[in-house]
Amino acid sequence: MEEKVQLSYNGQHIEFPLVEGSQGEKAIDIQSLRAQTGLITLDPGYKNTGSCSSAITFLDGEKGILRYRGYDIAALAEKVSFLEVAFLLIFGELPTEEQLTKLQDDIHHESLVDEDIKTILKSFPKSAHPMGVLSSLTSALISFNPSSVDVDSDEDMYKAIVLLMAKFPILCSWAQRKIKGLPLNYADTSLSYTENFAKMMFRMPQQEYTAKPEIIRALNKLLILHADHEQNCSTSTVRIVGSSHAGLFASISAGISALWGPLHGGANQAVIEMLEAIKEDGGDTEKFMAKAKDKNDPFRLMGFGHRVYKNFDPRAKIIKQTADEVLGQLGIEDPILDIAKKLEKQALNDPYFVDRKLYPNVDFYSGIIYRAMGIPTEMFTVMFALGRLPGWIAQWREMRLGKEPIGRPRQIYTGHTERFI
Ligand code: CMC
Repeated sequence: MEEKVQLSYNGQHIEFPLVEGSQGEKAIDIQSLRAQTGLITLDPGYKNTGSCSSAITFLDGEKGILRYRGYDIAALAEKVSFLEVAFLLIFGELPTEEQLTKLQDDIHHESLVDEDIKTILKSFPKSAHPMGVLSSLTSALISFNPSSVDVDSDEDMYKAIVLLMAKFPILCSWAQRKIKGLPLNYADTSLSYTENFAKMMFRMPQQEYTAKPEIIRALNKLLILHADHEQNCSTSTVRIVGSSHAGLFASISAGISALWGPLHGGANQAVIEMLEAIKEDGGDTEKFMAKAKDKNDPFRLMGFGHRVYKNFDPRAKIIKQTADEVLGQLGIEDPILDIAKKLEKQALNDPYFVDRKLYPNVDFYSGIIYRAMGIPTEMFTVMFALGRLPGWIAQWREMRLGKEPIGRPRQIYTGHTERFI
């Protein structure tokens, strides 16, 4: 028998169906609430609100589980490539060899952006934040690829996805080269997705470039670990913008802006800035712990805490281990890694953090690896965006194929009642 939840209001007993997901998560389906009672729900920050049903990513914040399409992220990060994970997220299954070769070839074929995009890039000052540049250039791509996507055509959908997957890494690498005043590189279509990206980022005009295998392995892992995270702020943005039937590129461009904030993807930049500030200040981690706990001080321990993980963030565990490996392999000793480990140890033994279930999140150690690779701090969130791209695309596609209605929350109005001049 279908389970129901009862609500009593004004002497009336109204029943709502209980929805159950494939992992036993339960939700009250309140779609008929307003029609039946005149009431709406109020949930700022959507802490208790499911905005959609989704078959892409499963996350259990209490147990620290994260799976893409049923596969554990640790296994994916160890065994497959970022492009295979992108295919898995977007189309639902890991690709066959033939499907992977086709996707790679199609991406190679589209790995060019219109030369006029360079004029737009040039018009930004060198000091422009690369996330602003990336969001603008992604939006600008619409003008150079004007055909709208017929979401009911598999061919059209596939084409739009390939275009974006091909052109986005070029824009990311150009955002970095702009900061560094370097000539813009083009794709090397003889390379894999991740190797090509590394080459576009790091190749100097006066010398050949071959990526170190440890860099490619770490990059592949980081991109996979960032590839999707169900209904987070930027993904919800992509879905809600797309729900108005704005195009794929426009929806992704909005997602990039949402990711930029320091409470979301921008935290990876904020973490390194915080660790640097602690180092500059003499390395007294206790002092900064006290600041983080002081309610009169706006300082927060960046890279700590998560809306859904209340045990540990499984991505942070893998990234911490990868940071140790990469720095060891590259022979780099970074004093801020020691500061980070000290902060983590103190926080894990401090009642303030323990009681609030605050643990290191994905952003706590990722910047230390990017830094070791030679990526400037302002670029860290761009790296997050590159990893998250397949997740955004998958969620946008699911939303459009599911014919979801336009996202349009309600509100409780608290302003003036009618006034007269
Ligand atoms: N440092 C100090 N106190 C914290 C922190 C922190 N990093 N995070 C949460 N708290 C405290 C907060 O003050 C509150 O205390 P109280 O109950 O006494 O008022 C309690 O913990 C609950 O915090 P919240 O802000 O209500 O929790 P939330 O779910 O709304 O926010 C968060 C989650 C990630 C925005 C928050 O933990 C935070 O600001 N962390 C630092 C920024 C960060 O690392 N963001 C990256 C998130 S993971 C990657 C991503 O999403 O892109």
